[in-house]
Amino acid sequence: MTTVAENPLVEGLERLPVHPTTLIIFGGTGDLAQRKLLPAIYNLAHEGALPERFNLIGVSRSDMPDDEYREVARRSISSYSRREADPRVLDSLLERVRYVSGTFDDPAVFERLATCATEYDDEAGIPFNRVFYLSTAPAFFPVIVGQLGRHGLDRREGAEVRVVIEKPFGTNLEEARSLNRDVLEVLDESQVFRIDHYLGKETVQNMLAFRFANGLFEPLWNRNYIDYVQITAAEDIGVGTRAGYYDSSGALRDLVQNHMLQLLALLCMEPPVNFSADEVRDEKVKVLHAIDPPDPLRCAEMTVRGQYAAGHAGGEESHSYLDEEGVPDGSQTETYAALRLGVDNWRWAGVPIYLRTGKRLARKVTEIAVTLKPVPHLAFSQEGSLGVQPNQLVLTMQPNEGVSLSLVAKIPGTRMKLRPVNMEFLYGTAFLSQSPEAYERLIMDAMRGDATLFTRNDEVEAQWRVIDPILEGWAQSDDALPQYEAGTDGPAEADGLLAEGHRWRAI
Ligand code: BG6
Repeated sequence: MTTVAENPLVEGLERLPVHPTTLIIFGGTGDLAQRKLLPAIYNLAHEGALPERFNLIGVSRSDMPDDEYREVARRSISSYSRREADPRVLDSLLERVRYVSGTFDDPAVFERLATCATEYDDEAGIPFNRVFYLSTAPAFFPVIVGQLGRHGLDRREGAEVRVVIEKPFGTNLEEARSLNRDVLEVLDESQVFRIDHYLGKETVQNMLAFRFANGLFEPLWNRNYIDYVQITAAEDIGVGTRAGYYDSSGALRDLVQNHMLQLLALLCMEPPVNFSADEVRDEKVKVLHAIDPPDPLRCAEMTVRGQYAAGHAGGEESHSYLDEEGVPDGSQTETYAALRLGVDNWRWAGVPIYLRTGKRLARKVTEIAVTLKPVPHLAFSQEGSLGVQPNQLVLTMQPNEGVSLSLVAKIPGTRMKLRPVNMEFLYGTAFLSQSPEAYERLIMDAMRGDATLFTRNDEVEAQWRVIDPILEGWAQSDDALPQYEAGTDGPAEADGLLAEGHRWRAI
């Protein structure tokens, strides 16, 4: 019998050694860098997880000396780090930080960058690996990759060069293909790390452990036992200051195309032979290919969209989407999307998979609920079994991270009365340590060269293949965009997607 430690499925997750690395952040003063990337790097430093020899170069438009950038980094780490910054760790990290200013289409920027990175190598006497993190507006992704190629920054003798690309990876299939072509003209696929931060979340990775390290669920994990699946990514926040981006994106592109389809793929994939990047991604791509994309003309039967009206959400009065700063008058952008999809393969044929996401909903919750088929015959008296529901397994990604299984139990007493109870595993109580942020895990993986939790070129195209016909169907439709009151569970129209006997869980 193999122990967990010997299990080849688990073995692949072991940590690989990390070569000395210079991390270069394009968009080094941007919002993502300040709120997520710099604090993530600090927390890695705090845990001693960074390579022993590590340098950081920020690249952005604003002109400032190294010291000023160090102060920007210090402030953002102090404001957004999940743990209080320890001045000693912070100071020693900041000593290794430099800054290069300029616009990304200016060749001089890449010359300065090359000089700066080479100085680090010369100082240490070895070539460092280089990780270029593209945290910029998407229009710059091909521009930067092209410049890296022209300046010989795409390869390094004796070391690895990797490029991390933020989302969105295109706004439709055609753009994603063209971006893949531009990127792969310069780099090999093995050098490219397309980020989907959901894959960095502990609870999302736990789905792999849960499914493939327990014998209990596999026999049930198919169309014979599962009635339907519901994936929810609800947020109580609105668009905030991001209207400029969000209005041209909408909920479908912003969350469904990437995060939600990733959750679906992890839930439905076959067990990989091992946890190497390609084995895992091969299995996910097969799931995405098995989704029959909606016909644009029949989109209304499989999708519902909506936009938030004024209300009360996240503990505050909420404007309507149209009244948010920066949203154009009469915008038809959806802030809510619900879909009914199916995975047409041997395991899943006929099982509806419902997805829904939205801003300004009742609360923030990301969860997957797997509802089993009802028992074939309930041999208890009608009165005694009132309220009996089929078993439901809920994997909660956030908040209250954990797994809960509803079972039916007898209510104590002299009569045979039943009611559902929950069996729960909660991260917070089972493991007392604080989980790392998604970006910590992903930055480390990119530095290690482990692409398992990143999206491959064919995978991102397979995701757009599902989304494109919906975008097309919605663009052609004259139907009014349903409104929903902020702070609610979304438009009532979403009920129309459900098959008989299925229901949305309360948000
Ligand atoms: C981002 C979207 O990718 O994910 C945001 O652009 C969204 O609109 C965010 O708010 C949600 O991420 P999380 O980790 O808070 O669930």
